[in-house]
Amino acid sequence: MDKKQVIIVGAGISGLLACKYCLSKGFNPTVFDLESDIGGVWVKTIKTTRLQAPKHLYLFSDFPWPDSVMDVFPTQQQMLEYIHSYANHFNLMPHIKLQSRVNSISYDGPSSQTWSLWNGTGETFPPIGKWNVSVTDTNTTTTQVYIADFVILCLGRFKDVPNIPEFPVGKGPENFQGKAIHSMEYAAMDNEEAAAFVKEKKVVVVGFGKTGLDIARECASINGPEHPCTIVYRRDHWKLPDWAPWGIPLTYLYFNRFSELLVHKPGEGFVLNLLATLLSPLRWGVSKFVESHIKNKLPLAKFDMVPQHSFSKDARSCLILYMPDPDNFFNAVEEKSIKLKKSQSFSFYEKGISTDEDNTQIEAEIVIFATGFKGVEKLKDVFESSTFGHFISGSPRVPLYRECIHPHIPQVAVIGFSESLSNMYISEMRAKWVATLLEGMFKLPSVCEMEKDIARWDEYMKQSTEEYHYRSSIGALEIWYNDQLCKDMGMNQLRKNGTFANLFEPHGPMDYVKP
Ligand SMILES: Cc1cc2nc3c(=O)[nH]c(=O)nc-3n(C[C@H](O)[C@H](O)[C@H](O)COP(=O)(O)OP(=O)(O)OC[C@H]3O[C@@H](n4cnc5c(N)ncnc54)[C@H](O)[C@@H]3O)c2cc1C
Ligand SMILES: NC(=O)c1ccc[n+]([C@@H]2O[C@H](COP(=O)([O-])OP(=O)(O)OC[C@H]3O[C@@H](n4cnc5c(N)ncnc54)[C@H](OP(=O)(O)O)[C@@H]3O)[C@@H](O)[C@H]2O)c1
Repeated sequence: MDKKQVIIVGAGISGLLACKYCLSKGFNPTVFDLESDIGGVWVKTIKTTRLQAPKHLYLFSDFPWPDSVMDVFPTQQQMLEYIHSYANHFNLMPHIKLQSRVNSISYDGPSSQTWSLWNGTGETFPPIGKWNVSVTDTNTTTTQVYIADFVILCLGRFKDVPNIPEFPVGKGPENFQGKAIHSMEYAAMDNEEAAAFVKEKKVVVVGFGKTGLDIARECASINGPEHPCTIVYRRDHWKLPDWAPWGIPLTYLYFNRFSELLVHKPGEGFVLNLLATLLSPLRWGVSKFVESHIKNKLPLAKFDMVPQHSFSKDARSCLILYMPDPDNFFNAVEEKSIKLKKSQSFSFYEKGISTDEDNTQIEAEIVIFATGFKGVEKLKDVFESSTFGHFISGSPRVPLYRECIHPHIPQVAVIGFSESLSNMYISEMRAKWVATLLEGMFKLPSVCEMEKDIARWDEYMKQSTEEYHYRSSIGALEIWYNDQLCKDMGMNQLRKNGTFANLFEPHGPMDYVKP
C-alpha cells in the first residue's frame, strides 16, 4: 500500500504517542515542535511541579516507569527523563524536527461545507485533497512548506497562549508601577532566577488553579509573612490531600464501571438511564463521602475555602487540585505568608490591585496571572482558513467527534485537547484510535451521525460541568469514553476477567494494552 504522508504538530506526550502509533502502522510521520526539546508542558515548569495523578495512572502502557523512580508522584525532572527514554526506546527522535514552528496549515482540496460523509467520501485518505504545512525553522528563520495527506494536531491546551483577563481602559496593568506577568513567564525562568524575582517582593497571584496554588506556595516559602503573597481568586475548588478518602482509593469511587453507572452518560439507553436515575442518591453520597474526608483533613471552613459546588463536579471538570503536604500550605495561610482574597473581578491602580466588590486595595510589586491558557485560540489560529478556524472556535466547546475529529475539517485529527483525570492514558487511547483510523481498519459514520454524537457529549458536559463545559472534560467518564474507542477499533470493551472485576475494579492504562 502506498503510505501516505502524515504530519504531526507538537512533540508533547500526545505528539509522541501519535508518532509511535503511526510508526506501528507502517506510516513514516514527521513531527514538528517549536521548542528545542520534546515533552511539551513537562520541558520546563515551576520548581515544585510534580505529577498530580499517581504514576500508575500516568504512564505509557508499553513502557513502565523505571524502578529508580520510587515516588508515587514523580517530579518534573523524572517525568521529562521518562518521556525522553520513551522517545529513545521507540526510536522516535529521527522523526522529530525541533525548533520548527508550524505557522499555519492550509487545505488544498474541495469545500467541506456540504459533505454528508467526512472527507466527502468517508475515506480517511480521499482521492484529492492535501494540506500545506508552513514551518519556520526558528534557528535559521527560514520557512518551508511541507505537503501532508493527513495532519494530527497535538498542540496542547496549557501552553504557549496565555489567558489574561481583559480590563476596561485605564483599569488594566498599564496603570501599574510594578511588574505584571503570566505564570508562563514565571515558569520559563530558571529556579534561581524565579526565586530572586519574587524575593522580598509583595506578590499577588491571580487565580487559584493548580498553578496559582503552587506559585503562591513557592512565594511563601521564599518570603514568609514579612512579604506575604496574596491569592486573588473567583472560585474555590476541592483540594485533594491524598488519593484515598477515608482509606478507600479514589480510583474505586471514580475510575470503575460501577461509578459510571451512577451518572447519566451520552448515548446511554433506557436501562442505563433508569439505573443512573435510581442510583442518583448514591452518586450524591459518594461526592459527600469524599468531601467529608477533605473537610476532615483540611481546615477549609476556617479559611472560607469550602467550594460552593460538589467534589464530583470538580472531578468531572478535571479541576480537583492535588495538594500534597497540606499543613505547609495552611500554616502559611495561618501565619499570613499567604493571604486569600476572593473577588469576581478587580482592577489595577499604580501600587497594586483593587477588588471591584469591596474596593479593597492590595499593594503589590509583582502580579502573576495564573489564569490559565487560551488553548482554543491556539488551535483555531493554526488553520489558515477562517472557515476552519470558525469550526474550531465558533461554539463554546470545540466540537470534535470522539474528541478527535471535526466532521467538516478534512484529513485532520486533534489529540490531547479534551481533558481527562489522567491525560497521558487518554492521549494514548486517542493516538491508538487515530492510527487505526489511518490504517483503514474502520470508517467514521456520516457527518450527521457524528454531529449527533458530538451534541450528546455536549449536552452531557453542560449538565455535568456547567460553566466549565468549554474545557471538554471527560473526567470520571473515561471508561465509557474508552468503550466507544474500543468499539470503533474492534476491541472488546470489557477489559478485565469476570463480571466483578469489570464492574468494580479501577481501570487504567494497562487495561487497554491487549487488542
Ligand atoms: C505544569 C503542568 C502540569 C501538569 N500536570 C498534569 C498531571 O499531573 N496529570 C495530568 O493528567 N495532566 C497534567 N497536566 C496537563 C498536561 O497538559 C497533559 O498531561 C499533557 O502533558 C499534555 O500533553 P500534550 O502533548 O497534549 O500537550 P503539550 O504538552 O502542551 O504539548 C504540545 C506541544 O505542541 C507544541 N506546539 C504548539 N504549537 C505549535 C506550533 N504552532 N508549532 C510547533 N509546535 C507547536 C508545543 O511546543 C508543545 O511541545 C499538566 C499541565 C501543566 C501545564
Ligand atoms: N502537576 C501539577 O502539579 C500541575 C501544576 C500546574 C498545572 N497543572 C495542570 O495544568 C493545567 C492548567 O492549570 P492552571 O492552574 O495553569 O490553569 P487553570 O486550571 O485553567 O486555572 C486557571 C485559574 O485562573 C482563574 N481564572 C481564569 N480566568 C480568570 C479571570 N478572567 N479572572 C480571574 N481568574 C481567572 C480560574 O478561576 P475559576 O476557577 O473561577 O474559573 C482558575 O482559578 C490544569 O490541568 C492543571 O491541573 C498541573
